[in-house]
Amino acid sequence: MKIGIVGLGYVGLCTAVCLADRGFDIVGVDLDGRKIRMIRKCRPPFYERGLDPLLNRAISTGRMKCSNSYENLKGTNLIFMTVGTPTLRDGSIDLSQVKASAEGLARIIKRNDRFPLVVVKSTVIPGTTGRIVKPILEKQSGKHFGSDFGLCSNPEFLREGSAIEDTLHPDKIVIGAEDERSAKALISLYTSYYSGAVPPLVRTNFAAAELIKYANNAFLAMKVSYINSVARICEKIPGSDVGKVAQAIGLDSRIGRKFLEAGPGYGGSCFPKDLRALIEFSKTLGATSPLITGIEQVNRGQVQHVVSIARKMLRGLRGKRVSILGLAFKAGTNDIRESPSIEVISQLLVHRAKVIVYDPKAVEDTRRVFGRRITYSPTALDTIKGCDLCIIMTAWEEFKKLKEEDFLANMKNAAVLDARRILNFDEFSPRVKFTAIGQGGRINRT
Ligand code: UGA
Repeated sequence: MKIGIVGLGYVGLCTAVCLADRGFDIVGVDLDGRKIRMIRKCRPPFYERGLDPLLNRAISTGRMKCSNSYENLKGTNLIFMTVGTPTLRDGSIDLSQVKASAEGLARIIKRNDRFPLVVVKSTVIPGTTGRIVKPILEKQSGKHFGSDFGLCSNPEFLREGSAIEDTLHPDKIVIGAEDERSAKALISLYTSYYSGAVPPLVRTNFAAAELIKYANNAFLAMKVSYINSVARICEKIPGSDVGKVAQAIGLDSRIGRKFLEAGPGYGGSCFPKDLRALIEFSKTLGATSPLITGIEQVNRGQVQHVVSIARKMLRGLRGKRVSILGLAFKAGTNDIRESPSIEVISQLLVHRAKVIVYDPKAVEDTRRVFGRRITYSPTALDTIKGCDLCIIMTAWEEFKKLKEEDFLANMKNAAVLDARRILNFDEFSPRVKFTAIGQGGRINRT
């Protein structure tokens, strides 16, 4: 079976290489020529754990071909649309890539008489597949949905950093379909892809499938904002620790332990964008919710909070040397989009601190943002040398190994703000000024 993938970002490329590995023939299309050249040379355009070997196999076996022309999609039976949906100024999503790819696909459908199936995987607000994609496909191809071509909404739930694992073993598959033939064709693809062990399948219409994606991400973001709110309370109670609270409430099976790590707030290319889009979308329906808007407000406040703790720890930031460990929005990726770390650095610069940074994967991308306004270090220990404060912003494994002695031996004044809560507070003596998000500090027993 020949499958097309339009848009070779995280979702598109990870989906493509996994399908190729299971024996499907893949045609990838992306308008970014540089990306195509890199992929053809087996070089992933972004860092993603486990992607390298799969991409190598997909290209070297010839199972995956890619180009920047829709023409190469001729002869494909099923085409995934995985283009980006960035945020517009007002918070709503930009559908220009979705519309352009629907137009490109319509040209292919026009010349294909074998019921090609278009599957929208891009995150789009409810109504997009039915009211925007379908009319473009019909109008521009002159063919009819349901009889000449098929259409499904099929949101994805993969995470950066574990995108391959999530693609291979998803918790669920959501299929939004409004005709039997399309639904059957997509279910049949997944049945053969998962060799009979198909993950739980939720079948619904286009709009409900689209909403499920937003509801899923907003719920997870809510858990993060919730625990960050509890963390603020913990910080005011000496001896309390949000980690214990998360552990205890997480043992309630109705709550669960996952996504209860307090920290500098959520970032990345998904949660912030999806929350904003959901808020804007609910406004258009007259169905706004203080709970959903609150998730975003709490998150915005968390970066401010990190900066204000830093200010208090140093009694002002002007001229102070502050090292930042971690730039990526989370460990396991080089992605700095909407990273709390990048926000914190911007704020520190506003307060005229001198900023020195390190990240095992994300330095180059950060250099493009800040240029010479900050200093880039080759290692974690180099970063903290001569500094007044070290802020840990990303939970990379190598930072977890840092010990009290490392800070005492290298820093001008040993002070640590663990915004990711990866170091053990109890292992630090009062010789290091140590603060962690959600940590109420030592109990004064005297
Ligand atoms: C998220 C969802 O988890 C995926 O299911 C979804 O498919 C994806 O968005 C998407 O819409 O494409 P991702 O953005 O890759 O995936 O990253 P997450 O692991 O969900 O983390 C998001 C942010 O929340 C990160 O900044 C992370 O550090 C933060 N987070 C997460 C916390 O601060 N605490 C937690 O307990 C969990």
